[in-house]
Amino acid sequence: MKFLITAGPTREPIDPVRYLTNRSSGKMGYAIAEAAIADGNEVTLISGPVQIPQPAGMKFVHVTTSDEMFEAVQQEAYRHDVCVMCAAVADYKPANVARQKMKKQAAPLSLELVPTHDILAWLGKQDRDFLLVGFAAETNDIEANAQKKLAAKNCDIIVANDARQIESDENEVTVFFRNGENKKIPRASKKNIACELVKIFCKEARKMFDKKNVGIT
Ligand code: CTP
Repeated sequence: MKFLITAGPTREPIDPVRYLTNRSSGKMGYAIAEAAIADGNEVTLISGPVQIPQPAGMKFVHVTTSDEMFEAVQQEAYRHDVCVMCAAVADYKPANVARQKMKKQAAPLSLELVPTHDILAWLGKQDRDFLLVGFAAETNDIEANAQKKLAAKNCDIIVANDARQIESDENEVTVFFRNGENKKIPRASKKNIACELVKIFCKEARKMFDKKNVGIT
């Protein structure tokens, strides 16, 4: 199968020396990409800026901003079977980017922010042939929030995890399916969780493709 995976944070520039970002390490997305390759799949990895060496054996697209990630996903998604949106895309970006370094002033400063494109929601609206997987990073009411996201963004699967694990080497996730079922993967290294997730994604994608073929014949 062909996997498209996004990973890491995005950076939203304020001026030439400053930006807004988040604590995403990219570890979960990179682990899924490695696990998918080890399982014999093809992988395209679209990554924001992270401190992890570029993995071998896959197509790698480096992006910095949410706009760049959106553009790369738009270009790549249609030719993949499984799209896993693991990146922690910034929800807002500065309305204006200063061309020159902003000078310090005595008065308080307000920054006007505008929403970025919601890449996962955009994919969910497309007439698509791929399995769509989103991640939900939550600090509270994990299950309720994850199920809301699955419906709102029209995904096939949402993987819910505790946002406080964002920098850790370990994770503990619950996988929510469209039919209301869920599967908990207990605390383990992100590498082991990634292997479990890849198995689940391949199984669900095969089910989806089989159903479509049955519908055609
Ligand atoms: N996502 C996205 N584009 C955005 C924001 C999020 O594609 N601009 C995707 C993420 O890659 C993830 C899913 O949406 O697969 C959920 O991201 P999350 O940060 O948990 O939720 P948000 O939609 O940003 O909502 P909130 O911050 O209110 O929880």
